[in-house]
Amino acid sequence: MGGGDVSKEMGTCSLAYRRGDHKLRKFVTARSAKFLLLSIIAFALLTLACRSSRPWFNTSIAVADQISRSRKGYTLLMNTWKRYDLLKKSVSHYASCSRLDSIHIVWSEPNPPSESLKKYLEKVVKKKARDGHEVELRFDVNREDSLNNRFKEIRDLKTDAVFSIDDDIIFPCHTVDFAFNVWESAPETMVGFVPRVHWPEQSNGKADYYTYSGWWSVWWSGTYSMVLSKAAFFHKKYLSLYTNNMPASIREFTTKNRNCEDIAMSFLIANATNAPPIWVKGKIYEIGSTGISSIGGHTEKRTHCVNRFVAEFGRMPLVYTSMKAVDSRSLWFW
Ligand SMILES: *[C@@H]1O[C@H](CO)[C@@H](O)[C@H](O)[C@H]1NC(C)=O
Ligand SMILES: *[C@@H]1O[C@H](CO)[C@@H](O)[C@H](O)[C@H]1NC(C)=O
Repeated sequence: MGGGDVSKEMGTCSLAYRRGDHKLRKFVTARSAKFLLLSIIAFALLTLACRSSRPWFNTSIAVADQISRSRKGYTLLMNTWKRYDLLKKSVSHYASCSRLDSIHIVWSEPNPPSESLKKYLEKVVKKKARDGHEVELRFDVNREDSLNNRFKEIRDLKTDAVFSIDDDIIFPCHTVDFAFNVWESAPETMVGFVPRVHWPEQSNGKADYYTYSGWWSVWWSGTYSMVLSKAAFFHKKYLSLYTNNMPASIREFTTKNRNCEDIAMSFLIANATNAPPIWVKGKIYEIGSTGISSIGGHTEKRTHCVNRFVAEFGRMPLVYTSMKAVDSRSLWFW
C-alpha cells in the first residue's frame, strides 16, 4: 500500500516537473539562442580586431619571427628572357621578402647583362632588403640558350632551399614565406603554387599512355601529380641531380623542343622520393603577358613530353595526391 502511494507521489511529482520543464525549456531555448547570437557577434568583433591590429597574437608573431630569423633562408632562382621591365619589377618585389637570402638570375641571352641593368638591380636590392640584412644578387650567365640552364648546378649556394620562379609572376611575401615553411616541413619534395596532372589513357588500347592536363582538370578532380617549376621550392640537390644524373637524352630533348624542362624536374624529384609534390594555396599576380601555355598545341606537346619521359625513366614516377596546404591564419572561420 505504502509503496503505491509513493509511486503516486512520484507520478505527480514528475508530472509537475514535466510542466515546469516545458516552461524551463522554452526559457532555456530563448536564452541559448540569444547567447548564441551574442557569441557570434562577439566572435565576429574579435576576429575583426585580430585582423586589424592583432594585439592578442602579438607574442606568437614575435616568437614566429624569432624562429624564422634563427634559421636559414632561401635562394631565389629567377628565369628571365629579354624582359627587363618585368625583371626589374619582380626583383624589386622579392628583395623585400624577409627570408630571402640571395637572388640568382638565370641569364641565357646572347649578350651579357648590361652594366646599367646590373647597377639598377643592385641598387634596388640594397634599398629594399629589410633592416640591414644583406641580399646577394648574382647573374648566372650562360653561353648557350637552353631551358636546362634554369636548373644548372650552383656550387656555392648558401641555402638548401631554392625558390624557382619566372620573371613575370609575383606572390606576396607572406605567401612565399608560407610556402617556404611548408617546404621546411618536407624538404625532400617539391612545394609549389601551380599544380598539373597526368591521366592514364585507356581508350586507345595502348598500355602506359598518358595525357597531360592543365588547371581545369586539377580543379575538377581535386587531384594533381606535379607542381610547375615556374613557382616552386625544392632542395638544391635536385639542381645537381638534374645536371649530372638525368639521362642526357631528356636534357637534349628539352633543349631541342624548348619545352618541358619543368615536367622533367617533376619526374626527377618524384623518381627520387616516390612521393607527390605539395600544392600551396596562394594569390598569384601575373605581371607579363601569358607565356607559351597559351599557344595552341601546348597540351599535345606536353603530353608528348610526359610519354617520352616515361619511356626514358622506364616507369611512370609521378604520384597522385589531393592535399593542398592552406595558411590557416588567412581562413575566415576554421
Ligand atoms: C607588440 O606589438 C607592438 C607594436 O606592434 C610592439 O611594439 C611590441 O614590441 C610587441 N610586443 C611583443 C612582445 O613583441
Ligand atoms: C630513378 O630512381 C632510381 C631508384 O632510386 C635510380 O636508380 C635512378 O637513377 C633514378 N633515375 C633518374 C633518372 O634519376
